[in-house]
Amino acid sequence: MRKIVLVYSGGLDTSVCIPLMREEYGFDHIITVTVDVGQPRADIQQAEDRANKLGTEHYTLDVRDEFVKDYCFPSVKANGDYQGYPISTSIARPLIALKAVEMAQKLGANAFGHGCTGKGNDQFRIEYVLRTLMPDAEIIAPMREGRLMPDGSRSPWTRSEEIDYSNAHGLEISHTKDKLWSIDENLWGRSIEGGHLEEPNYAPPEEIFHWTRSLEDCPNTPRLLTIGFENGVPVSLDGVSLSPLDLVEQAHKIAGEHGVGRVDIMEDRMLGLKVRENYECPASVLLLTAHRALEALVSTQGELKFKKMVDTEWGELAYKGLWYDPLKEDLEAFINKIQERVTGTVTLRLAKGSAIVVGRDSKNALYNEDLASFDSKTFDQTDSTGMVKMHGLQGRMYWLLKNSK
Ligand code: ARG
Repeated sequence: MRKIVLVYSGGLDTSVCIPLMREEYGFDHIITVTVDVGQPRADIQQAEDRANKLGTEHYTLDVRDEFVKDYCFPSVKANGDYQGYPISTSIARPLIALKAVEMAQKLGANAFGHGCTGKGNDQFRIEYVLRTLMPDAEIIAPMREGRLMPDGSRSPWTRSEEIDYSNAHGLEISHTKDKLWSIDENLWGRSIEGGHLEEPNYAPPEEIFHWTRSLEDCPNTPRLLTIGFENGVPVSLDGVSLSPLDLVEQAHKIAGEHGVGRVDIMEDRMLGLKVRENYECPASVLLLTAHRALEALVSTQGELKFKKMVDTEWGELAYKGLWYDPLKEDLEAFINKIQERVTGTVTLRLAKGSAIVVGRDSKNALYNEDLASFDSKTFDQTDSTGMVKMHGLQGRMYWLLKNSK
């Protein structure tokens, strides 16, 4: 009996993998694992239905709490961002792969399948985690390998070939209902790609957005929202303490209502491709904006400058899915140390697509009202005279020399 765990979203690509793994790869026991990281309920149901029809041993695992606590919130601490993208798909992949490994260990399988094609980032993220945690397991990627042709060569699957093949194996997928966009969704963000959206100069149509209101539909009255943080992690909204998952869900709703969280960027993929990407990420944009504002209040200038570099490195590692890289652990040692002081509140004004910081407060603020004010009693302005005289000394010497030649 050859057993394999398929990382299963229930979409067309991963569904095609099921009969293929039987017919071409010789697996007769297929375990499908669908990991709930906050994708739509309908997608999870579809995965269950299709797994039933295709006769797999199917599991749905709800890991939303773990995803928020161990993946999204560490990302908040690191201001997790890649080229303007509040990383979401990227940070879900390591958890999905971890759950596949746990199931394989529990059920005695030593092989994994996934539905990634050869173009994207997910193949790197998923396989890296599988190989790190189960170095001896076999990994197959039928969609990347392509379709076996009668002459023994392989060529990429077309969408219509995939539909025909799945339907020949008992699914009922219609050809006519053409899927316009390729969407990946979890509770930290929603990514929309494909079709005309690939063209960098094509303005995204309103229909691609499901979580954020358009400018026209946003309320006319702004909404003030106060976010409480403890050690770099959000813990309350408007003074009400919430569990991590509830907090993210409410932040999502409130920010989305005010059109906050649309991102449109050119993204450098791991293979070097430059790709146009659209994201909707109301909760992450809101929480990251607030977190940055609080860090700016409690950290020194040097810490902030250094942390920007650390955050960029962290973001790149997370984007690449290198979740178990020792450098990530090293960076997190620094990040967590700084977060010890990131406790306090930030108030944002949400209005028509923007989330603007209008207040911040912390017992750790490196701010002193007396020092900053114009009529300070402790700060003698004449103390500055000498410092000002020396300002830019080396540069002035350079000009002296230059002008004397
Ligand atoms: N470019 C993003 C990433 O690599 C998202 C890709 C998600 N896929 C999709 N079909 N929309 O993290």
